[in-house]
Amino acid sequence: MVQTDENPFEGKDPIFKAKQPLKKDSFDPDTIFHRDEEINHYVNSLQDVVVGHDPNNVFVYGPTGVGKTAVTKWVRDKLLEKASEQDVPLKIVGPVNCRNYKSSYRLVSRLVNEFREPGDKLPKSGYSTDTVFEFLYEEIESVGGNVLIILDEIDNIPPDARNDFLYDLPRAEASENAAIDQARIGLIGISNDLKFVDSLEPKVKSTLGEREIKFGPYDANELRDILGYYADLSFHNDVLSTEVVPLAAAFTAQERGDVRQGLKILEKAGEYARMDGSTVVTEDYTRRATESIETDEILDCFKNDLTRQQALTYIATTLAIIEPEHDARTKRIYSLYSSIAEAADSKVRSERKIYEFLDQLSMQGFVRSEDRNLGRGGGRRFVYQVTDDPVDIINAVVKSDYSGALPNNVWNILKHHKEDESTSFEAPDPDDKKQQQIWQFT
Ligand SMILES: Nc1ncnc2c1ncn2[C@@H]1O[C@H](COP(=O)(O)OP(=O)(O)OP(=O)(O)O)[C@@H](O)[C@H]1O
Ligand SMILES: [Mg+2]
Repeated sequence: MVQTDENPFEGKDPIFKAKQPLKKDSFDPDTIFHRDEEINHYVNSLQDVVVGHDPNNVFVYGPTGVGKTAVTKWVRDKLLEKASEQDVPLKIVGPVNCRNYKSSYRLVSRLVNEFREPGDKLPKSGYSTDTVFEFLYEEIESVGGNVLIILDEIDNIPPDARNDFLYDLPRAEASENAAIDQARIGLIGISNDLKFVDSLEPKVKSTLGEREIKFGPYDANELRDILGYYADLSFHNDVLSTEVVPLAAAFTAQERGDVRQGLKILEKAGEYARMDGSTVVTEDYTRRATESIETDEILDCFKNDLTRQQALTYIATTLAIIEPEHDARTKRIYSLYSSIAEAADSKVRSERKIYEFLDQLSMQGFVRSEDRNLGRGGGRRFVYQVTDDPVDIINAVVKSDYSGALPNNVWNILKHHKEDESTSFEAPDPDDKKQQQIWQFT
């Protein structure tokens, strides 16, 4: 019962001084830690620009959350500062995140608009892609000096834009078709997908990869410094117990050395403390945060990376793995998928489609297939595994829009699976239709 004159909201936050520094990439740090060498490479690659020579193309790569974008922005600002001091004409566009542009037209018009005044922006459609490219070249030419274009998450560049951007643009000044005479274009491409580079045609690869800068994962000591910096900005004084940052750093270093994950742990630990009405973020809250982080990451994938049909296929694969004495073979995955899709009021697609979805899931790293040898006379069998812990996946499904797709008895069977199958359970007979229905869908 609550009284109408009660207000459950707190007027003050006892834990967080500011949350923004912990939030996804909306904050630019004023200190960059442990990237001196990479910054040096960058400076060497772009030094020519400051004195008015032609720019190099630069390709920056490395795993997620290791400072590629942050360092690039920092270098960009220093470069602009120096060029302005020297009175060298220079325009830098970006980083523009390719993930946000689904077609070549959208991406090019975004770039054109970077040069244009508010009243003069291009509409969302209405011109041909060739025409907007011409506009872009006109704008670039009007700078009358070096133009650097920074394309972030360049592996997401719309397929119809690949050649135009990665090959033609950096060579526009040499081309007869492009109206580039005075300007010099440098392209900076950033990616966390190494397969992307391999997939490029050799001519494109050699253009883009003129200078390459590799970013590796951070180790625990480096993460301590970086997370400590963000912790100071985000938490009130004396709120964090001394173990919190080292613990978050150690956990993150073991995973993949990704700062973003460490920041999430700090935020989550603070939120747990706040929910409990505690004024101290303890080691315990931090541990809890590290435990829930995997589920949260999978939940993010359900929200952002998977289509509905891919998600249902992924859930079916997970169920096929946790059910007792079963291998996740395509036939079994398909049968579970059908029940799940029905329970979720979704269209049930054909078995052939499921093969496609499994391939896509495999390419995105959610599942992997194994060719299992069944021993003498047994032949071979193709089974699927999920790359995350099934417990984390099911926990994420429960929090997602797909919770209605789960069978009612999922926890019993998951418990059996977790206990290493030591609890008694009647294994279904693959030939018996009735026994196959171990899952209860309502
Ligand atoms: N060396 C560092 N010093 C200070 N902050 C850092 C450092 N490295 C990363 N960060 C911060 O960590 C977060 C993630 O870094 P960033 O966005 O640069 O990663 P990324 O390598 O571009 O990842 P992705 O490939 O996913 O885009 C950002 O908030 C960034 O400011
Ligand atoms: Mg980035």
